[in-house]
Amino acid sequence: MRIPSLTTPARRVGAGLAAALAVAVSAAGLVASGTLERSVVGRDVETPLSAEALRGLAPRGAKVAAAADCFACHTARGGAPWAGGLPLETPFGTIHATNISPSPQGIGGWSRADFHRALRDGIAPGGRHLYPAMPYTSYRGLTPEDVDGLYAYLMTRAPVAVENRANTLAFPFDQRWTLAAWNLLSLPATVAAPDPGRSPLWNRGRYVADALGHCGECHTPRTVIQALRADAAYRGATIEGVEAPDITPAGLARMGFTPHGLVGFMRSGLSAQGGATHQMFDVVHFSTQHMGEADLTALSAYLFDRDALPAEPETPVAATPAAIPAAVAARGRASYAGLCAGCHGGAGEGIPHVSVPLRTNAAMRVAGAGGLLRAILAGLPAQRFPGNERMEAMPPFAALIDDAALADLATWMRAEWGGQGRAVTPDEVARQRAGLRADASH
Ligand code: HEC
Ligand code: HEC
Ligand code: HEC
Repeated sequence: MRIPSLTTPARRVGAGLAAALAVAVSAAGLVASGTLERSVVGRDVETPLSAEALRGLAPRGAKVAAAADCFACHTARGGAPWAGGLPLETPFGTIHATNISPSPQGIGGWSRADFHRALRDGIAPGGRHLYPAMPYTSYRGLTPEDVDGLYAYLMTRAPVAVENRANTLAFPFDQRWTLAAWNLLSLPATVAAPDPGRSPLWNRGRYVADALGHCGECHTPRTVIQALRADAAYRGATIEGVEAPDITPAGLARMGFTPHGLVGFMRSGLSAQGGATHQMFDVVHFSTQHMGEADLTALSAYLFDRDALPAEPETPVAATPAAIPAAVAARGRASYAGLCAGCHGGAGEGIPHVSVPLRTNAAMRVAGAGGLLRAILAGLPAQRFPGNERMEAMPPFAALIDDAALADLATWMRAEWGGQGRAVTPDEVARQRAGLRADASH
């Protein structure tokens, strides 16, 4: 898995962190004395919770943990639950998610206050700054009640005696104190209060999207120092060459989502707009499918900026085909018929329980072609979706189609089904190939 916050081009990130470092050095004195830290954690959490209170809060915590997707990062594939070890690749080296089971190697000795500070301020006991790969920037908005629930839930799991794996970060990124400067520049000083002008549903949705679901960690573009851009929330960002698309109301509508359709997608991972793939598959698999109808409705209302969902499901806005040169269209259509139609249908309609529709697929309608190219070049694994639904694997086509032919194919599909007139270039395809080779060598 890659760290969304650190996977934009290395050069940009390097420059950004170097800038942060310069600020850090100049502010080092203040930082060391702690005067610049803006905690959002209240003093009341210094009172410990009784064993009985912990047991009572744990069921709430289980739900919060699922919605906040803690398991996905804190459990290595095939590893013991909550014992950490999942490597997160960055351009500067590897960071490992830690053991957060209640063992001596994990958070067994942590007080309630320690836990609140780690989750909401990004600071572990002893003043150790956490890397923002742990999405505390978003979890900062969690309510104290939900953080207590998480603490109670984790403290009542089985302790696992697994040592944390050492990170392999190059200097100066291994210097945790520099993160104090990053926090100063990147963390909001306060947490958004409920907006009395909006419905309780919208307000709950904001909490589910911004804090719990931390959707912005992937879908919001970042500044040069990798802080989330408050002025461009949810306008889309690129992760590992795949676009986490614009999920503002306009962006969602462009992909063909309606408020009710989005609820269905978050619940099942499947929709006329396609299946959840790439990082979004894990989000649905570990997190949103467990959220429950009320929270999914709230999430959709907020993302569509409505106070309530419409009474009747709305019809998605169909894309109008865009004009492209006839020769490109002919070559693209021929590649589609030869390589793709067997599984996706002659008109891109998809085959139930086998493959997803392409004609109405969001991948055709989003601004970037990265996700589409990557799916075609690398293929996709067979995936299980909620409710016993599954999709077969899609084979990789990297060896079967050259850059020019794939550029034509992608251009034609996006113009015909997505209304996107911009030509996909052979250069774009070549860059995706190079990116896949780099990933494979990790
Ligand atoms: C995107 C991946 C990701 C998600 C999601 C995530 N974490 Fe983390 N978490 C990390 C990483 C990576 C670290 C280690 C950071 C470091 O070493 O600075 C970490 C560190 C922590 C720590 C500090 C542990 C220590 O020993 O220092 C705690 C506590 C924690 N996470 C709890 C949680 C909880 C609770 C959730 C869900 C609400 C969660 N995490 C979700 C990646 C994640
Ligand atoms: C770990 C990063 C990550 C997180 C967190 C994340 N997304 Fe995504 N999301 C992606 C990526 C990447 C894609 C594009 C997938 C593709 O092109 O195959 C995507 C696609 C989508 C789509 C378009 C449908 C599709 O599959 O192409 C929607 C809608 C969406 N995300 C909503 C959300 C919401 C709502 C949340 C919060 C609950 C969220 N995402 C959290 C990475 C993420
Ligand atoms: C052997 C059958 C097969 C062939 C041939 C095939 N696909 Fe697929 N394709 C699938 C399956 C199955 C999925 C769903 C995979 C999943 O979700 O795990 C899929 C998914 C996709 C997706 C992702 C859609 C989404 O909603 O995220 C795209 C894009 C795609 N295919 C395009 C193509 C193109 C273009 C071709 C021809 C070059 C092609 N496929 C050929 C079986 C196939």
